Amino acid sequence: MTPTSSPLPLPPTHHRTGAVAALALATLMQILPAGPAAATEFNLPQGPNRALIYAKCRTCHDLQYVVESKGMNASAWDGLIDDMEGFGVDLTPDERKKIVTYLQTYMGDTPPPAPSATPEVKTKVDGASVFAENCTACHQEDAKGIPETFPPLAHNSDLFLARLFPVKVLLNGMTGALRIKGAPYEGEMPSFSHLSDAELAAVVNYLRQSFGNDALATKKMAAVTADDVKKLRQSPMDPEKVLEYRASLE
Ligand code: HEC
Ligand code: HEC
Repeated sequence: MTPTSSPLPLPPTHHRTGAVAALALATLMQILPAGPAAATEFNLPQGPNRALIYAKCRTCHDLQYVVESKGMNASAWDGLIDDMEGFGVDLTPDERKKIVTYLQTYMGDTPPPAPSATPEVKTKVDGASVFAENCTACHQEDAKGIPETFPPLAHNSDLFLARLFPVKVLLNGMTGALRIKGAPYEGEMPSFSHLSDAELAAVVNYLRQSFGNDALATKKMAAVTADDVKKLRQSPMDPEKVLEYRASLE
């Protein structure tokens, strides 16, 4: 007896996808939990519009699928994005084009040689652009979120729970049930540890000063520095632990 093996040949993964196409986004998010992979960061090669993949492609599954599909040819990537749109991925024509071009170029069958290990040349980092590129797919451009799905970051005093609280959320992600401004959420905030120290510091400082949050600071809180982020990177936490830490601050 081999209870784990099926008597019928299983169809390849990409033929199975149609079976779940009808499911709503909210359901998908429950049936495709990130599981043990949640704490792992899947790093995609540097290239134009890479941030768009991190922003648009982690609401239902993590990037393991993308990493494992490396080497597909151009038309296979194009078809795959059709499938994802069938599942509910919401892309403007411009975003679709940028995502497909990135995948065909850097995850395709003839990827350019990996750049040498020299650190990226950073031009001046600006928190507003970091927010626009990485956060609005879920928290929305006005930072008001989507009720009971993605929490608001506008008028949200949690940003001041502790000086480094938002940095811990960004470096590690955060998972589990919580209430934000009275409404229940039970989602997954993905890790953004693939962003640089300066980018993470800038987006936290930007959020605290924008979207009506500046008025909520109970006491003056010093700006987060890239050095603060660098230090916190040395002590990774599980996303569930970040939620416990948050509860300890409330
Ligand atoms: C609305 C939910 C949703 C979003 C958002 C989403 N996907 Fe998917 N993705 C799925 C589902 C469902 C599957 C199928 C899982 C399975 O077959 O086990 C999948 C599977 C995949 C696979 C594996 C395909 C295979 O046949 O093995 C890749 C690669 C992938 N997604 C890439 C992406 C990319 C790139 C994006 C961003 C443009 C994205 N996904 C966004 C729902 C989504
Ligand atoms: C894929 C969707 C998604 C993206 C993209 C995303 N978030 Fe989140 N974020 C969430 C979810 C869901 C939660 C609530 C987590 C929970 O339920 O435990 C959250 C929670 C948070 C919190 C905690 C709020 C509170 O009141 O405790 C902060 C801070 C935050 N996100 C900042 C950001 C920033 C900054 C970015 C961009 C760099 C970002 N998020 C991108 C989904 C996302």
